[in-house]
Amino acid sequence: MSTEAAPSGVWFAPGRVNLIGEHTDYNEGFVLPFALPHRAVVTASAVSGGSSRVRSAQQDGVVEFRAATVAPGEVTGWAAYLAGTCWAFREAGFPVGEVDLRLDSDVPVGAGLSSSAAVECAVGVALAGLAGVPVDPTGLARIARRAENAFVGAPTGGMDQMASMHGRPGRLVFLDTRDDTVELVPFDPPAHGLELLVIDSRAPHAHADGEYGARRADCEAAAAALGVPALRDARPADLPRIADERIRRRARHVVTENERVLQVVALLSGGADPREIGPLLDASHASMRDDFEITVPHVDVAVAAARAGGAVGARMTGGGFGGCVIALCDTGRVGAVTAAVRAAYAERGWPAPVVFPGRPSEGAGPLPG
Ligand code: GLA
Repeated sequence: MSTEAAPSGVWFAPGRVNLIGEHTDYNEGFVLPFALPHRAVVTASAVSGGSSRVRSAQQDGVVEFRAATVAPGEVTGWAAYLAGTCWAFREAGFPVGEVDLRLDSDVPVGAGLSSSAAVECAVGVALAGLAGVPVDPTGLARIARRAENAFVGAPTGGMDQMASMHGRPGRLVFLDTRDDTVELVPFDPPAHGLELLVIDSRAPHAHADGEYGARRADCEAAAAALGVPALRDARPADLPRIADERIRRRARHVVTENERVLQVVALLSGGADPREIGPLLDASHASMRDDFEITVPHVDVAVAAARAGGAVGARMTGGGFGGCVIALCDTGRVGAVTAAVRAAYAERGWPAPVVFPGRPSEGAGPLPG
């Protein structure tokens, strides 16, 4: 006879793609992501006393810890995302009993699609559901981000968790990271005869963590040089005041990227043809490549090939040093764009990229029956 506790519920949270606004979130700036149909699903039940148990369909073994007392450093590896969210939920003042959590996720790992935020947000909504406490999506996103920053130890901004919590079908999550204000912006490429392709470059993700922290430090140095609280407060005309050439380029990326986000929002909110955002996607990529220096050959080749294949705009999405590229294409060009990227990779002997349509999808919540 099984001694396992009966499941008390099933919750999910999605991965995300960022349409535009890269490395702006930790500079108190603007981002414009959307939730993907790919999800982390958590089957959760309360257990009385003892320890919490977590397992993952994508990993071997069971990890045990005490949710009531677990602290940073006590759980590492894949289970840290789950234990860390229990810890952060408790730290936020909510009741956390011992739990049995079973995770199953189809968000690609290491592709820059926020597989970790999806796990944290899924555990967050599950804990809130089990405890029967109403926690608003922004509150849960902050808890999930705390797990990532203070328990897992990754110094990320808050975009990924906010996108996972606030996503809606046919909508972008326009987030002002200074105060976490969210506005949903319509974005429904198929309604305009378009597809937003997501192209997983499958580039090796080497040194991404250290480089991310280094970019943060450069941005802080830029804000200090300008005497502003964050780069959000800087304007293009301020940039010549930064003496250090590298720091000035880092700041130029952030300052111009914030402006590009606002321009994309103005176009889409104003009902423009989404094709009009193409040049802004291209400019974002150039800025990441030349000023922020976070692209790698695999993503630069994918972007160039997508444009040559007929995409109206393309850019790397996510933290950088690999991960995914997005390419906005007329529906009739999807085959040509995909073939162009595949051919460019084949020529170089690189593994074939994975390509799928990115369509804005539902944010975290109970898994519909
Ligand atoms: C990663 C981080 C986000 C954000 C992006 C870059 O995805 O988790 O907080 O900084 O990189 O835009």
